[in-house]
This record gives sequence, C-alpha cells and structure tokens, in this order.
Amino acid sequence: MQSTQMQIDHDSFRALLGNYPTGVAVITGLDPRGEPLGMVVGTFTSVSLNPPLVAFLPMKTSRSFTALREASDRFCVNILAADQEGVCRKLAAPGERKFDAVPWRLSPEGNPIIQGVVGWIDCEFANIVDGGDHYIVLGAVKSMGLERDALPLLFFQRGYGRFSQGPLSAADERQLLRSVRLAEVAREEIEAIAAELSVGCSVIAPAGSDAVYVAVADSSASSQGKDRLGVRAPMAPPLGALLVDSPNSISEELWLARLGKNAEAVEKAREQLARVRERGWSISLMGSLSPAELEEAIDTYSCPQRTPEQERRFFSTVLSMFDMHEPAELNEGDRYDVMHLSVPVKRADGTTALVMRLSELPPQMQGADIKRILSRLQSAAANVEVLIRGHLANS
Ligand SMILES: Cc1cc2nc3c(=O)[nH]c(=O)nc-3n(C[C@H](O)[C@H](O)[C@H](O)COP(=O)(O)O)c2cc1C
Repeated sequence: MQSTQMQIDHDSFRALLGNYPTGVAVITGLDPRGEPLGMVVGTFTSVSLNPPLVAFLPMKTSRSFTALREASDRFCVNILAADQEGVCRKLAAPGERKFDAVPWRLSPEGNPIIQGVVGWIDCEFANIVDGGDHYIVLGAVKSMGLERDALPLLFFQRGYGRFSQGPLSAADERQLLRSVRLAEVAREEIEAIAAELSVGCSVIAPAGSDAVYVAVADSSASSQGKDRLGVRAPMAPPLGALLVDSPNSISEELWLARLGKNAEAVEKAREQLARVRERGWSISLMGSLSPAELEEAIDTYSCPQRTPEQERRFFSTVLSMFDMHEPAELNEGDRYDVMHLSVPVKRADGTTALVMRLSELPPQMQGADIKRILSRLQSAAANVEVLIRGHLANS
C-alpha cells in the first residue's frame, strides 16, 4: 500500500485511529434505585502507579456517563474477557434494562462486577478534565481484583478479537500438514518399536517455533499416547535441540533468544546443543518435574488462548529442567530415570525432517540398556529415512 498523508476530517480521523487496537472495559455504577448502570469504553487506560490512577474518556453527550456521574462518586472498571463479546454488545446497545441477561455482583465499593470479567478496579472520581468533545476522567483506585487467568477482549478496526502469541504462519501450517502426511510413513516402525520395547514412541515435526506430536504409538499397557497427539511444545532451551536450524523450524539464534538475558542458561544451552549435534541424539532425565507436571505445563502452552503470563510460567518451568537434559556421560553400570530419548529422521540433504522419540520408559534403566534401546531407535529412524526419501521423491 502506498503511503499517503490524509486530511484531518471526521471520517479519516476515525478510520486512522481505528488502526490502534484497544482493550474493552465496562464502567459500572448503581443508579439511585439500585439498578446497575454500565458504559462500554475502549479508552480505559492506566495513568499513574504512585498514586494509583486510571482514566477513561466518555463522550460529553453520553447519557450513560451523566447517569454514572450523578449516581455516585465511585465507579468500577470491568475488564472484559475475550469470550465476552456478547456482554459487550448487550451493554453497548442503547436502551433500558441492558443488564437483564448479564449476571453481576457488588464490589467492595458497591458497584457491579460483571461475571466472567478478567479483573475489576473500584475507583473514586478524582478529576474530570476537558478533552474536546470528550471528558478525560481520572479515577483514584480504591480496591481491585483479578477474576480470571484469561485473555482480554480487544477492539480493532471496528471488530472484536483477541491477543495471540506469534501464531503459526500460513506457511508453517502448510508445512505442518506435509509433516503429518510424512509421519504416517513412520507408522509401522513406531508401532513395532512401541510393542517390542513396551514404551511410547512418537513422531515430532517442527512448526515454526513449536514442535508438534504428529504421530504416536503406545505399548498396550499404556494409553498416554492419544493425549500426546497434536500437542504443541515450544522450542525453548533445553527443549527441541534436535530440530534447531531445521527447515520450518526455529533458528539457533531465536532458540537461544528465548532465554532472554540469562547468560548462564544461554551458555548451558549452547553446550547442550553442541553435544546433541555431535552425538546425533537427545536425552532428558526425570528431574523434580514429573512427566505429568511437564505434560500439564505443555498442555497450557498448547492452548491457542494462552496468555503471555502463562507462557512466562511455562518457560520458567522449562528452565528448572535444564540440568536434566543431555548429560555428558551415560555410564553403562549406572541407573537412570529417562523421560525422553529422541533421534532425528533426516532428509537426503542432511536436514532434519522429523524426530522420533521414546517415552514412558521403565524406571532406573541401566546405562547399557539405554544405549541398547537407543540403537534400536536409531535403526528404526534409518528405516524411516529410506521411506521418507522415497515419499519426498514421489511427492
Ligand atoms: C468497543 C467500544 C468502545 C467504546 N468506547 C467508548 C469510549 O471510550 N467513550 C465513549 O464515550 N463511548 C464509547 N463507546 C460507546 C459507548 O459504549 C456507548 O455506546 C455510548 O456511550 C452510547 O451512548 P449513551 O451513553 O448516550 O447511551 C464505545 C463502544 C464500543 C462498542
């Protein structure tokens, strides 16, 4: 699109400013009869931390604002959640009895808290400043509460939506579909290995900065496999080393960047990556985190509605596993609790197409036994390599 300087007329002003996304809040209060009042605003903002002040900008002509102002010297800001577009539409529509189908309860300051909001902030009117055809209303915060660990509702170009964390690009999605088809080629091998060793065996494909379980097989004793299928785990150190720098995957630079400024962790991640590349396989041992806890964390991460806070929690969970990944030595006579054992499946050009992974291994395995099942997994991966090269040549 060509850059153009626009006239500052009414329509252009609205259209241009509509490109700036906002959250959506409902300012609530009670009228003298004790009936709830509400006004939807996109102009709610935080102002000051010390003292705690917030603001919103009502139109001077707004009847809802006049009623709120006249009813009380207090109001409550309700931050709507992404699944509350319906509530927003009901309350933004003109008319009486807007709250009939909107459940609420009273806040400590005596204002409606709408059910299902992300959070609420009870305020006292602190100042009302002139802002052209709007007022700038400053509120002094009196009490507040977080109600839900959920994404907020967003408003952009006159449409509602939600925040999403670097979702897959269309190209990643297409590539992922190809990987799902490719993984089917490995089906016989993973089922054979799962039955023979009484373990879980999965195929994992890269999808941008995530890794996705695209095929799973279980020993008959276990039924965890179906829970893994489709699960998406982030490639953040120490996870995903075998897929770093593969096509459709994360680069080494971005993989390390996910550790932020944690220089010690970056150094460890570099060492682990070098070790994995040199040995051509990856191992993680059980640590303080049980497989169920890790699975739960990954499950939250897998949810497309995850919040940045949930993502941060996931990364700190993963960081606590660092020392359990890629031990330098596996002594034949020592015993280990192995969480995962993984090997790459390579294309003819040497790049990694998929990863084959064993899980649900017996506890306290001897180093010698781990090496034995590792070579079994490597020979299965070699068979799959031959098959996928044929498949890729024909597709
Ligand atoms: C997403 C959204 C954001 C809005 N933001 C504001 C706002 O910041 N200020 C405002 O005065 N009205 C805003 N409105 C309009 C009011 O919610 C309401 O529809 C309008 O004030 C109706 O006028 P009344 O108060 O006279 O009934 C917004 C409406 C929607 C749907």
